[in-house]
Amino acid sequence: MTDLAALERAILTDIDAAADEAALEAVRIGALGKKGSISELLSGLGRMAPEERRTAGAAINVAKETVTQALAARRAVLKAAALEARLAAEAVDVTLPTRENGIGAGRLHPISQVIDEITTIFADMGFAIAEGPDIETDDYNFTMLNFPPGHPAREMHDTFFFAPDETGERKVLRTHTSPVQVRTMLSQKPPIRVVIPGRTYRNDSDQTHTPMFHQVEGLVIDKTSHVGHMKWVLEEFCRAFFEVPSVKMRFRPSFFPFTEPSLEVDIQCARKGGEIRFGEGEDWLEILGCGMVHPNVLRNCGLDPDEYQGFAWGMGIDRIAMLKYGMPDLRPFFDADVRWLAHYGFRPLDMPSLAGGLTA
Ligand code: DAH
Repeated sequence: MTDLAALERAILTDIDAAADEAALEAVRIGALGKKGSISELLSGLGRMAPEERRTAGAAINVAKETVTQALAARRAVLKAAALEARLAAEAVDVTLPTRENGIGAGRLHPISQVIDEITTIFADMGFAIAEGPDIETDDYNFTMLNFPPGHPAREMHDTFFFAPDETGERKVLRTHTSPVQVRTMLSQKPPIRVVIPGRTYRNDSDQTHTPMFHQVEGLVIDKTSHVGHMKWVLEEFCRAFFEVPSVKMRFRPSFFPFTEPSLEVDIQCARKGGEIRFGEGEDWLEILGCGMVHPNVLRNCGLDPDEYQGFAWGMGIDRIAMLKYGMPDLRPFFDADVRWLAHYGFRPLDMPSLAGGLTA
């Protein structure tokens, strides 16, 4: 029995020494597991005489009970210590001031902001937003818009062409947002009232041109809309966008294959020392092209020109953004320079709304 007492003491010492739950589990397996020291003693009982077995069995079971209780007690201590340690390690000081996060530090690009402003104004007039792909078929970019194959107007677009695919088709980077007029008329029944902001591409690069730029297109198709409605929509837009009580606009005859008649629109402005103001002055600044949708375009899109009519316009976004926010150079728009963005960018939560004042 001195052996049993020594074994029990040794096990209890190991239990006390176990530094964590894994170590304690190893001690338990060593004592009470299938091949554990106490388990082996218990299985040895079978080989004893009945008299001896009774006393030895009782003593071993007492030792087993002592060890089991010591294990449970130690486990409780280790569990509590582990929880303490975890709570200490994961403590959060809720009294620390908050760190400036992305919402505060990030800035919206002026183009994104201006697109939001434009769509807000037109949404208020009842327009929906439509979009189309940057990579376009020659058909949608030109042919369906009444540019006949070989027509010189195609060349004025400085088109970026893709290499022909297996079928011989040559896709293009869209040179204007006008192909989305076609996509819209093919997928929606009139009345149609959409604005189409997006990226456009032309092989052209200097101080005021970049190969990728932005346009916003407008399209209205129904049975009665005419040039008078178009003038009102465009004037109302310019007033709201430039945030002036009135703007003088000049509609000049022009040519686009997809409109008849076609017009170009200038707004009156004053240029003083590199600054430009609208709603006053004697200068004129060209800002967009527009017209009544050509009957051929309506026909190409499955609409009967004797029944339907409407107007469309297209406007460069980058330049009106420069004008409105006094940014002198177009190129930094696409330089991704965070210092420029910190200066000219907009806070993400400064969302334009007509009720709150567009840029208030
Ligand atoms: N797509 C023309 C361009 O990029 C702009 C334009 C002019 C669009 C007249 C129109 C329009 O919808 O009616 O130069």
